[in-house]
Amino acid sequence: MSIISEIKEAILDATKKLADEGAIPSAAEGSKIEIDICNRPEVGEYQTNIALKHSKDWRLPPLEIVERLAGALDDRFKGTATKPGFLNLRVSGEVLSRHLSSLFTDESLGVERTSDKRPVIVDYSSPNVAKPPHVGHLRSTVIGDAILRMLKFKGHEVIGDNHLGDWGTHFGKVIVAFRNFADQAEFRRAPLDELARIYSSFKTFAEQDPSLEDKAREELAKLQAKDPENYKTWQEFVEISKNELERIYDRLEVKFDHWHGESFYHDLLSPLCEDYERRKVARESDGALAIFFGDFGVKLPTDTPLLIRKQDGAFLYATSDLAAIRYRMQTWNPSKILYVTDVRQSLHFEQVFAASKIAENFDTELVHVPFGIMKLASGAAFGSRDGNVIKLDALLDEAEEKALALIRDSKGKVAVPEEEWGALAKTIGNAAVKYGDLRQKRTSNIIFDFDEFLSFDGDTGPYLQYVHARIHGLFRKAGLTVRECEPREIDFDGEGSSEKRIIASTLLSFDRAFEKALADLTPHVLCGYLFELSQRFNSFYEKCRIITDDEIVTRERLFFCGLVAKIIKTGLGLLGIQAPERL
Ligand code: ARG
Repeated sequence: MSIISEIKEAILDATKKLADEGAIPSAAEGSKIEIDICNRPEVGEYQTNIALKHSKDWRLPPLEIVERLAGALDDRFKGTATKPGFLNLRVSGEVLSRHLSSLFTDESLGVERTSDKRPVIVDYSSPNVAKPPHVGHLRSTVIGDAILRMLKFKGHEVIGDNHLGDWGTHFGKVIVAFRNFADQAEFRRAPLDELARIYSSFKTFAEQDPSLEDKAREELAKLQAKDPENYKTWQEFVEISKNELERIYDRLEVKFDHWHGESFYHDLLSPLCEDYERRKVARESDGALAIFFGDFGVKLPTDTPLLIRKQDGAFLYATSDLAAIRYRMQTWNPSKILYVTDVRQSLHFEQVFAASKIAENFDTELVHVPFGIMKLASGAAFGSRDGNVIKLDALLDEAEEKALALIRDSKGKVAVPEEEWGALAKTIGNAAVKYGDLRQKRTSNIIFDFDEFLSFDGDTGPYLQYVHARIHGLFRKAGLTVRECEPREIDFDGEGSSEKRIIASTLLSFDRAFEKALADLTPHVLCGYLFELSQRFNSFYEKCRIITDDEIVTRERLFFCGLVAKIIKTGLGLLGIQAPERL
């Protein structure tokens, strides 16, 4: 049982007791009791607004209720009142020690495992291929990866799927551009760069010569009909892209269970359209096939029907998504599918989800997890026409170099032998880049600022890594292991008690922060918690010397340090960031 549940139960018991005595009209309902961390540690660790909530029903002034409740609590909790009617709770040392002890041994840090037996699919990263991965691809990859890790931690079976855009309209253009404007030598040297270059020249040329667009449509239709020549060219481009992506994911330490791109579903598209047509889910309109939501009384923000087959027979992005949903249902029967893409695709998913609800019979929850767009300071979005592209590789290189420079500069202070500096720099660089993204509110647009992304101080990944490593340094200095520092009972009344109490309640709220981050699919909530924990740890560290002459005091303080390190390591792990013991 978590400390919050224990407090709730105690308060509930107190209201029962008061109700039996006739001091209040009825007991409170457990589900209505809210417990928060108290932001005034001098009055207690926790706080509840129960009196404010019940004042009307019970026809009693809130402060009066608080008085009565405080008197009815057992001695595990000492209650006091603050205006306008909060009940503050000071928790006994025995209760705090007991909960910290279970945190110490519990690998899931107080988080209860899910009872969901069906898998959850996370559809993330999913870039369009035939161009180099750029900074705009970072968000889906790292947010999706963090969500996947959080779900696993909760005990879900998770399937990560990289739904590559490897079959879309742009391939018609890329093929035409390749045959007309490619520089073969450049293509051999840096294939993806050359493909990106010719794709953008295609756009420029097509403005002057619109027949190029027709040509591209023709080539796309040929490709989709598996014309051998186009198919071979396409395969080559996909292969090149996949190799490059593989390398970037490796650098980012991101792994997928499947890479079922759009092309994977190709053979299912025609039967799907025919089936929808036969069952009157979709109907013809000007030679194309579309789903008209109005036919089914489904209201969406726009009246536009969802096109699933064009006049020329070509299929669309939505068609492969509908086929993917069907395939996933049949193959995995997931309880949920999460789609991590930027917010510009919200309408697409609303339509696709509505269409598949009309067409299919299932109870899988389909969830779009949108994130804000990464923009340049100029206001242009990445990957858009005028968004000058910063390659993901370049960002990671820069992060790694900066980390390496820092390691070199702090000569003597680095606890790692020189031959491991490269690997360490990679770990620190990754932390900067990933955390730089994850700490930002998911749905906000973010301005990409190189320096901010590569900052190592304050609310950053490298800073959290540093706090973690510093704690391990303390253990090394004391010559003790974490295991050796579990005290029988912690002194929560003597010297340094208020620092200990603050750090204790912060440690004990990991599960709450985690659950909130998971429920809302917001890794930034977890980041916020970890940063707060680190700051609280710093004040603890500043006020209470950790290694003292008194062995018992030292062990007790190291016990807190060990818990902080354990939570930072687990928390960073959930964000896909490593926490080395030495920096
Ligand atoms: N390839 C798409 C893009 O780059 C994202 C795909 C997201 N996943 C999906 N099932 N539609 O915008």
